[in-house]
Amino acid sequence: MSEILSLTRAARLIGVARTELQRKIQRGELVSHDGMVAVENLLVCYPDAQLEDTAESRRVAQIKERAFGKRVFERAMPDAEVLAARITELSKTLATSQGQVKQFNALLGRLWDKITEAESQLNAESLPMMENLKTWIRKEVDLAMEPGFVNPMAIKDTVLSIITAQVTVLPSKHDFLVEGHDSLLEAAMRSGIPLNYGCSGGNCGLCKARVLSGEVKKTRHHDFVISESEKNQGYILLCSNTAVSDVVIEAAVAGSVQDIPFQQISAHVKTMGPINEDMLLLHLQTPRTQRLRFLAGQSVTLRVGQSFSAELPIASCPCDDRNVLFHINRQSGNLFSDFVFDHLKQNDVVEIEGPQGEFILHEKSTRPFYFFAFDTGFAPIKSLIEHALSLEAEAIYLHWFGSGPTNIYLPNIAHAWRDALDNFHYEEHIAGFDLRSVNGKRAKTLIEKLNDINISDTNLLQGDIYIAGPEAAVCVAEQYFLDKGLPKTRISVASVK
Ligand code: FES
Repeated sequence: MSEILSLTRAARLIGVARTELQRKIQRGELVSHDGMVAVENLLVCYPDAQLEDTAESRRVAQIKERAFGKRVFERAMPDAEVLAARITELSKTLATSQGQVKQFNALLGRLWDKITEAESQLNAESLPMMENLKTWIRKEVDLAMEPGFVNPMAIKDTVLSIITAQVTVLPSKHDFLVEGHDSLLEAAMRSGIPLNYGCSGGNCGLCKARVLSGEVKKTRHHDFVISESEKNQGYILLCSNTAVSDVVIEAAVAGSVQDIPFQQISAHVKTMGPINEDMLLLHLQTPRTQRLRFLAGQSVTLRVGQSFSAELPIASCPCDDRNVLFHINRQSGNLFSDFVFDHLKQNDVVEIEGPQGEFILHEKSTRPFYFFAFDTGFAPIKSLIEHALSLEAEAIYLHWFGSGPTNIYLPNIAHAWRDALDNFHYEEHIAGFDLRSVNGKRAKTLIEKLNDINISDTNLLQGDIYIAGPEAAVCVAEQYFLDKGLPKTRISVASVK
């Protein structure tokens, strides 16, 4: 088994969130070197670690499945070839270890002969000392050979390394696990790591990366040609390969919105259905070879019919780049919304352009995430929360303000997150007035509600604040937090019509 584990693997092994281990490291309760932890130190922190999955890890799996749907969270065994390759790798490690044990046994035998030879030349005075040494060696060898305690973590780690493989990305130092039939690219996206890519189908070459160590396996055909010299240097396509063993790769990761290219995609309507009388859920699917690359929280421009267009926030996670969701609000007199509600139907083509916007998650922040959604501001907030869940954020707070009760139009999603995750907190607030028009008395009422939240939650001003919704409400909320002394860098806002 590996003696030193990454935090991702250690968290999986124990069945806790990665952030829990990070907290222990910060408090000095768990020793870590360069982001890695030793199994012995893990056992000190978790002496009761069990072989079986803990209830906690199962619960987190459930929430992710419920939150993202089966389309995103499929857990499956790797295919037979990858499984065979992983077992072969483990067999090699086992054979090496068995060979070493044999050599040590032989060495022990020779050492014993040497001691006996030396003993015959000792004088009577030194004999008791030698006898003591021999007794000690016999005892220690017997102890070492005794089939005693079997570390459950060692067994679990071996099983995990058959089902999953760990990938470390340099120079960013991200790491993630590859499970099931996932390619390296798919596994990274599920873990919320925005690796560079384009088509996801082996055509564009944008996901080209270099394998620095470990073994990968090509599992999908690709048309893009990698030259022999690049192959010799370890270059592969992340969308066409999976990991057989733990691997280290050198690959570009998008760090900001500037790293995401502008795209134009003809998608089609997969499904569309009413959420309530005034809200509609639009599910667009892109062609297999042209997926939408974006960062959680960003928007795109949609074009329908006779070029009716609107800029809309994406209401889904970048981890599923073919299936893109939107929450459409009926606005009478708005040509785009009228067309969508009255004429758009399944399989119609919708042009997507973008992405745009800087309302994205500060992933490296260690502060809790506070999300304030006003009416349809829930759409980009949902995308951010799904992304935060895939990053296993430490604490997530969602406050959803509705002009009226029906403006909190998908409460079941927020309830599901709250019911299944200990670190997710959700509250609904009914404003009682149109949040698109907030001034004078209404602004005062909104500020009072924000103040009530601040009084009841003393951590609020320690967090990163994300606010989305109609511009008027967003401005009032942003000003409230600025007045409370929060720097602008800790407040992200998005105006949603
Ligand atoms: S993403 Fe285009 S070849 Fe991999």
